[in-house]
Amino acid sequence: MMMPFSLSEPDAYQQWHDNKLSLYPVTVDDLFVNIEDPAHISETERSALLSIVGQYNMAFYRFKRGASQVNFNDKHLVHALGQQLGLSRLDNNLCADADKLTSIEVRDNKHQHTYIPYTNRRLSWHTDGYYNTPETQIRGVLLHCVRPAETGGENMLMDIELAYILLRDKNPDYIHALMQPDAMTIPANILNGEVIREAQSGPVFSLSGGRHLHMRYSARKRNIVWKDDQRVQEAAAFLQKLWTQDSPYIIRCQLKTGEGIICNNVLHNRTAFRDGSSEEGKRLLYRGRYYDRISET
Ligand SMILES: [Fe+2]
Repeated sequence: MMMPFSLSEPDAYQQWHDNKLSLYPVTVDDLFVNIEDPAHISETERSALLSIVGQYNMAFYRFKRGASQVNFNDKHLVHALGQQLGLSRLDNNLCADADKLTSIEVRDNKHQHTYIPYTNRRLSWHTDGYYNTPETQIRGVLLHCVRPAETGGENMLMDIELAYILLRDKNPDYIHALMQPDAMTIPANILNGEVIREAQSGPVFSLSGGRHLHMRYSARKRNIVWKDDQRVQEAAAFLQKLWTQDSPYIIRCQLKTGEGIICNNVLHNRTAFRDGSSEEGKRLLYRGRYYDRISET
């Protein structure tokens, strides 16, 4: 079996690397699949989605309007779509709804600490659940748009395998450094003196199932402690600089009603946005975080 992520197999890496880069440039439109009936996707729709995910670790879908009276805010359809693609074990994060999907919207939380995802502020580059325990790492993510914002709220995404390639081509030692089990530490989350999440140390890059690349990452400058190790520090600085530059490997999208993303927890960010004054003008997305990767077949 080819082991492109092994630092001792440069030939396997090079072959995989060349193949991966040959898939770019690509635009978000190339990665979209129309879905007629989200509760029962066709074999053609499913294989189109899985083939795109197989190449880019992400794909975009669009529930066809009026096709079967699809209700774009029906959470059952979001659950059903995920399940048909192998996404079923949902993570129950602090802000999730009762059904474990999370409503991403501006929340008016006067007396509590407000997490940035639930404001209209920009979100810096990250993978989801980077603060989770090793046992609850997020492998798959589904993001479904019920309503876009009046303006802004654009997402940018990058396959983590591309970030890996850019780092390894710059210096293979960066990969070695970022695979250390204490490369990145998230301090404990303490609210009103109570520890609601313990500190989490872990690698940035790891292999799940021995062959799938996984990444824990946040570009936030606060609340992230990078290991006091020269290569780790340089690699973190390399990534910070990457986010200030344009790149052919960044996919941009502004999800519209009934559209969504499925991905193997790729890197992503969000621009700031402004909601409209009426309820219909307020940005609302449903997000599922899963312990599963998207099915390969
Ligand atoms: Fe996220």
